[in-house]
Amino acid sequence: DPLIIRDRDEMRKWSRSMRAQGSSIGLVPTMGYLHEGHLSLIKEAQKHADLIVVSIYVNPGQFSPNEDLSTYPSNFEGDIEKLRSVHGGVDVVFNPFNLYDYGVYEGGETMKKGEEEKGEKVISCVESSKFGHETWIRVENLEKGLCGKSRPIFFRGVATVVVKLFNIVEPDVAVFGKKDYQQWRIIRRMVLCWISKEIESSYCNQVRDLDFGIKIIGSELVREHDGLAMSSRNVHLSPQEREKALSISRSLYEAKKAAENGERDCTKLRNYVAQTIQKAGGKVDYDEIVDQESLESVEVIQSPVVFCIAALFGNVRLIDNMEINV
Ligand code: PAJ
Repeated sequence: DPLIIRDRDEMRKWSRSMRAQGSSIGLVPTMGYLHEGHLSLIKEAQKHADLIVVSIYVNPGQFSPNEDLSTYPSNFEGDIEKLRSVHGGVDVVFNPFNLYDYGVYEGGETMKKGEEEKGEKVISCVESSKFGHETWIRVENLEKGLCGKSRPIFFRGVATVVVKLFNIVEPDVAVFGKKDYQQWRIIRRMVLCWISKEIESSYCNQVRDLDFGIKIIGSELVREHDGLAMSSRNVHLSPQEREKALSISRSLYEAKKAAENGERDCTKLRNYVAQTIQKAGGKVDYDEIVDQESLESVEVIQSPVVFCIAALFGNVRLIDNMEINV
C-alpha cells in the first residue's frame, strides 16, 4: 500500500532519504478523483523513476471565486483503492490539507499558519496577496491565450502550486498529461524543455526558464471508449449532456482527418468544429488551431499544430485537443 503523507516537512524528509539511498523519484501531480488518464501518467512515470509519488491536492490558488472549487469532485478512499491496483505500485500519496500558509477562508477570514486543523475550507487565493501569499509564478506569453482568456488567474495558480510541489517533493521527473495541453507546455517551458527524442535536439533543449533539475514528461491524452476525453469533471455531465459532448472529440477527429487529406485552411476546420459542437447544444469557449510550441494561432497549417477546444455542456466546462502533424 502507498504511504500517505500529509505534512510538507515529512514529505521532503522522505524524498531526501530515498535520494540519499540512490533512488530516483517521479512525481505525478493531481487534484484527485482519479481515472485511467491519471493512472496512465503513473505508468509513464514508472518508466523514468524508481519511486513514485502521486500528489492529491485540490489547489484553491487556480480557481477563481466564480469557478467550481466547492463542487470539485473528490473521493480519497476510492483514489487510494485505484492506486493500489496500479501494477508496479505507487510509493507515496502526498495529500496535504493546505499548501498556503495564508489563504482566504469562507467568510473572508484570514487563515494563519497552524489553523488548518480546525478544518475551515480555503475558498480562494485570488486576492491572497492581501492576506500574505505574495509570490506567484507567471509564464507570461504561454498563459495568455486559450484557457487563459476565460480563466485569467488559472495558470498562475497552476504554475505556482507545481513549483511548491517541486520544492517539497524534490523529484527527478514529473509527468503531466497532454489532455491539459497548455498546462503541460507552460510547465515544460518554466522548467526545462524536454519532450520526445525527435524534438529534443532543436530549440527545446535550450529553454529552461527557472533551471529546475527536473525532467518534465508529457503523457498522451487518454479517452473513454467512445472518444470522450477522460476528466474528473465528466462525472457532472448528465447522460444526455455526455452524449452531446461526444460532438467535441468526433468533430476533432473529423478535422484531423480533413487536414490529413489536404485541408490546410484553419478557418474552415475551426468553423466545422464550432458548428458541430453548437448544433449538439454546446457553448464554445474557444476553438483554436495553434503552434505546438508557441501556442500561437495559425491560419494555414504548415508545421505541427494542435487543435484546442473548450466548450460548455450545461454548467460543465470541457477541454479537448488533437495534435495534427501534417
Ligand atoms: P488534474 O486535472 O487532476 O490532472 C492531473 C494530471 O492528469 C494532469 O497532468 C492532467 O493533464 C492529467 N490528465 C487528466 N486527464 C487526463 C487524460 N484524459 N489523459 C491524460 N492525462 C490526463 O491538472 C491538474 O489536475 C492540476 O492543474 C495540477 C497540475 C495537479 C495542479 O494543481
